[in-house]
Amino acid sequence: MVTRPPNHRWARIRQTRSVLIVGLMLFATMGQAQNQRIPQLRKQGSATQLIVHGKPFLILGGELGNSTASSLEYLRPNWKKFQSMRINTILAPVYWELMEPQEGRFDFTLVDGLIRDARKHGIKLVLLWFGSWKNSMSCYVPAWVKRDFDRFPRSQDKNGKSMEMLTSFSRNNLESDKKAFVALMKHLRGVDGREQTVIMVQVESEMGMIPDARDHYAEATRAFQSAVPAELMSYLQELKAELQPEFVTMWEKNGFKTTGTWEEVFGWGLHTDEIFTAWNYARYTEEVTAAGKKEYNLPMFVNAALIREGYRPGQYPSGGPLPHIMDIWKAGTPSIDFLAPDIYHGSFVDWSRKFKRADNPLFIPEAGLSHRSAADAFYSIGQHDAIGFCPFAIESLDPSGHRLTRAYDLLSQLAPIILEKQGQGTTAGVSLDRSRPKTEVKFGEYVLTAFFEPLDRWASQVADTTVRGGGMMIQLGADEFIVAGSGIIVTFQSLNTERPIAGILSIDEGIYKNGVWTPGRRLNGDQSHQGRHMRLPYGDFQIQRVVLYQYK
Ligand code: DGJ
Repeated sequence: MVTRPPNHRWARIRQTRSVLIVGLMLFATMGQAQNQRIPQLRKQGSATQLIVHGKPFLILGGELGNSTASSLEYLRPNWKKFQSMRINTILAPVYWELMEPQEGRFDFTLVDGLIRDARKHGIKLVLLWFGSWKNSMSCYVPAWVKRDFDRFPRSQDKNGKSMEMLTSFSRNNLESDKKAFVALMKHLRGVDGREQTVIMVQVESEMGMIPDARDHYAEATRAFQSAVPAELMSYLQELKAELQPEFVTMWEKNGFKTTGTWEEVFGWGLHTDEIFTAWNYARYTEEVTAAGKKEYNLPMFVNAALIREGYRPGQYPSGGPLPHIMDIWKAGTPSIDFLAPDIYHGSFVDWSRKFKRADNPLFIPEAGLSHRSAADAFYSIGQHDAIGFCPFAIESLDPSGHRLTRAYDLLSQLAPIILEKQGQGTTAGVSLDRSRPKTEVKFGEYVLTAFFEPLDRWASQVADTTVRGGGMMIQLGADEFIVAGSGIIVTFQSLNTERPIAGILSIDEGIYKNGVWTPGRRLNGDQSHQGRHMRLPYGDFQIQRVVLYQYK
């Protein structure tokens, strides 16, 4: 028997070791690649895009009514309808009470069924964690939490009366919510980490104190009478120049104080109660979110119930992630990716603007479902690079001929171009009605003016004052534009001083199939008012491409 000299043995050991190291490195790289494929947010110019399976993804969505996802059978007939509407994402609640019916015993039947049915229909999911709070209340906490009010204390009103609302000032409340949320995220990583049907998660739902702007539970009062946490004060001082003007005004009124109790720093009044509430909801949410992300790092957001005109703190769910206290939320929730508005009332345009900031992309998880939804979808996506648009109770919609179905059809055709162009100043959205009948958009050497079409053409016939036209514009080249939508007329001006008049060379209607343009009719004569404008009639939904020229 030949014995190998020791140096050969060492060579073999070294070789084996290198193979092992290379193997480990490969494994780590694969892990990393897998990790990189997890849905995530990525900047493109001024836009923030949602990346799914490595590619930007535009959510043409809808949120389910609150109880719909509690029965897979009830929901099942709707999936085909969603498909026929070109809906690519459904926002569906996960109910804490049904997921953890007994403490520590988790039941993921509904979550798994939801994922299975969504996959079968090629639809993605955004899950809504109905945990400690849903519309201010704690109606979704499990029975074992509701009943054990000593262990899981409630918020109290100013008379010391407990409410059906967990207090955010209890470690037990926070830990039990966190444990359940962590279990959910861990489960999702296991069942969906590869296929990634679930692309984002909303943490809690529409938090906010009502009918008092702050909690009067004993711990809460103690905290209110203590110093404002140093971490909040240093955040506000550091970012003072960038804070929301409405918030700065509140802080300024009391002399920009930087130490003291909440009332010493921000002054006496309901606004201070609300700031205090916002900070404490934010900190609670942050702990739940950070723990969940450690298990499975999906993009996560919170949503806000918006304020009706003239309402004061306490009259609306106060302390939620609202525009005037966004900075408090930003300071308190570094793990939350963005704050989102649920737009049911007021001006859709104004609310959207308030939620789109350099540090906050726009996503509409809920909006009132109506014939106006089509214009809202075009506007939010075109004007503010929205990650997505999702009207509420989407299963209640009769899709045949509904304006939203037709808008989603156009938007899904345009999605590849929208996603390529986002964040570079070459897209715009318009939303027009009687109160806002005209809007101007500047693209390079042109100004495109969109008019509310019914007003222009058949004003006397439109009795319904809620009619809204809308669309989006995309600049394809120096002189070429896509305009898609319904109920708008567009005229063109040149900004070139040597050739100050803009003319229409051609307008074609058409469709996009897999990003490729197939023209249909050439629109001229009556369809362009003999070359004066572009028209997308209210009764129709169209994609038109226009080529302009300049002359003098
Ligand atoms: C807003 C809430 O977030 C939804 O869950 C639902 O309750 C709607 N309001 C009802 O309009």
